[in-house]
Amino acid sequence: MRIGYIVGSLSSTSINRSLAKAIGGVVPAGVEYVEINISDLPLYNRDADVDYPQVARDFKVAVAGVDAVIFVTPEYSRTIPAALKNALEWGGRPWGTSVWGGKPAAVIGTSPGSVGTAMAQQHLRNVLAHLDMQVMGQPEAFVQYRDGDLGEDGSLQSESLRAIVEGFVGSFCAFAGFQERQAA
Ligand code: FNR
Repeated sequence: MRIGYIVGSLSSTSINRSLAKAIGGVVPAGVEYVEINISDLPLYNRDADVDYPQVARDFKVAVAGVDAVIFVTPEYSRTIPAALKNALEWGGRPWGTSVWGGKPAAVIGTSPGSVGTAMAQQHLRNVLAHLDMQVMGQPEAFVQYRDGDLGEDGSLQSESLRAIVEGFVGSFCAFAGFQERQAA
């Protein structure tokens, strides 16, 4: 199985990128875990539907090339960052050529605030449902970021956070595999 991950933050010091790396550290052997980068995408404009820019074509090919997607996102102003929404539009257009439909997906995120990206995750679930992704319902993972729990390199220094990340990844691998068996 090939899992793609999308980080909703463009920051060079993103704590969500660190969380994405931590997830990479616990994926089971035999599962490929690859980043699908959204930082080079221009702002989506539907005028581009008639002649998609190469960077957006490459993005769609990257999404199409994975079996499942994990979204690791911050919360900005109680919703998802514009950069992530922008990437979702590029992947979903032109109409009838979306690369999202039917793909298993999971949502996770971290912020220093006590809600741990909960509202952004709920908004993202709404969008992913519209895009016809098969989104894992449980476990939810609203990770409150605490200094020292998570290294920039994704090293997990907190046992409770390790348990959350391992449980999340284990459940998602089972969920995504189940989806594949269902489709077979
Ligand atoms: C934030 N932050 C934030 N945090 C939160 O829990 N809820 C929120 O609604 C917001 N809103 C928000 C808006 C904007 C524009 C910024 C820049 C930040 C704080 C945010 O959680 C914190 O900056 C994280 O470090 C962002 O994640 P990355 O970029 O480090 O992965």
